[in-house]
Amino acid sequence: MPEVIRAKEMGFCFGVKGAVELAEELAETRRDKKIYMLGMLVHNEHVIDKLKGKGVEILEEADLLEGRDNLKEGDIVVVRAHGTIKPVYDKLLEKKAEIHDAACIFVTTIRKTLQEKEKEGYEILFLGDINHPEVRGIISFGKTVRVIEGIEELKATKIEAEKKYALLTQTTLNKNKFLEVKKYIESNYHNIDIFDKICGATYVRQKAVEELAKEVDLVLVVGGKKSSNTKKLYEISKRINLNTYLVQDENSLDRSWFEKVKRVGITAGASTPEEVIVKIENIIRGTI
Ligand code: F3S
Repeated sequence: MPEVIRAKEMGFCFGVKGAVELAEELAETRRDKKIYMLGMLVHNEHVIDKLKGKGVEILEEADLLEGRDNLKEGDIVVVRAHGTIKPVYDKLLEKKAEIHDAACIFVTTIRKTLQEKEKEGYEILFLGDINHPEVRGIISFGKTVRVIEGIEELKATKIEAEKKYALLTQTTLNKNKFLEVKKYIESNYHNIDIFDKICGATYVRQKAVEELAKEVDLVLVVGGKKSSNTKKLYEISKRINLNTYLVQDENSLDRSWFEKVKRVGITAGASTPEEVIVKIENIIRGTI
């Protein structure tokens, strides 16, 4: 049986943990109320299914905005760790829902910085993935935020010498990508202030998988299909160790992967529950 080695940091981050615990507690203590989670509370299908089993329903943002929802006054709505867009918060207030905002402190801090810098007259550049809910949520609190994905887009962006710019980052950005952009900015511009907002939980998980990938014969990255930080862990590991696989749960394992390997490394995205990781470890060790 191969030896299984865990990354030094992996799995649930405190923002996700807080959001899931909040929803579970509400499901337990407020049974008299209808409880919704706004979209996928966290990007992990297992966590979502478990919450659904406890009676927490999904309220889709688009349905809410377009009037296709059944939300009633006083219904409970839990906002996910990555927050949501301002029009959704406004709609929830308008419909007098009982809002429980589980938006992580790192996300709300970026929102605050963005608004402060705009007030101070900065133009905002946002380094991240425009399709990620966190990014869409944060930038909806600003006026004219330009989202860039990397150096190439930055090069294509008109930077005016007489203006001042603030560059903010998505919490789950790949640190190496950020450092590349930072280096480019520092050697080409004097009027872009950089605010590194990659959250500690993301960074330590990325560092840990970097170390792990060098030490083992094969790396398993466990996480949801829609989880951005899981995908980044996969990319980092794959660059170092070609034998890297992204799996959602034990059902996506191919047992032949482990036939000739001695050391299997395992890491997991910030929204992957411990029970999924343990199941996978037990399969590799041949205990189930
Ligand atoms: Fe918060 Fe970082 Fe997790 S931003 S939700 S602690 S990945």
